[in-house]
Amino acid sequence: RRLLLVNGPSLNLLGTREPEIYGDETLADVEALVSRVASDFGFEVRALQSNHEGVLIDAIHAAREDCAAIVINPGAFTHTSVALRDALSAVALPVAEVHISNVHAREEFRNHSYISGVAQCVIVGCGVQGYEFAVRRLAALTAG
Ligand code: DQA
Repeated sequence: RRLLLVNGPSLNLLGTREPEIYGDETLADVEALVSRVASDFGFEVRALQSNHEGVLIDAIHAAREDCAAIVINPGAFTHTSVALRDALSAVALPVAEVHISNVHAREEFRNHSYISGVAQCVIVGCGVQGYEFAVRRLAALTAG
């Protein structure tokens, strides 16, 4: 079975992007972590990062064919994108929403997520370890 890992805008810059907020691990580190944890639960990982909303939406639609669950850090689209939310609703797979930083302790515009209402779980402010928690939760939700 397969897990889709989606990272949105500017997460390609992880490691160098505001490290005081997002830490110094890179996107490659995150993808390696997710693959390693996922394999413990019998998941293969398809990892995708894009700065383009439509590319993210197309990848989510494609997951309908061959994925069991989705881990997504939508980046700034979290706070703006009804389209991304609708794409996740449409495919009806279990979704874990991850934010590396504690979005509730930052600017007010980060307090609202369009995605949370269609996610099975939301992990915020756990650093990149949040991705690991997301995989574990989705494994539990899709077990059996
Ligand atoms: C983020 C939080 C968002 O507010 C921000 O736009 C990001 C990253 C996080 O992982 O903490 O790009 O999703």
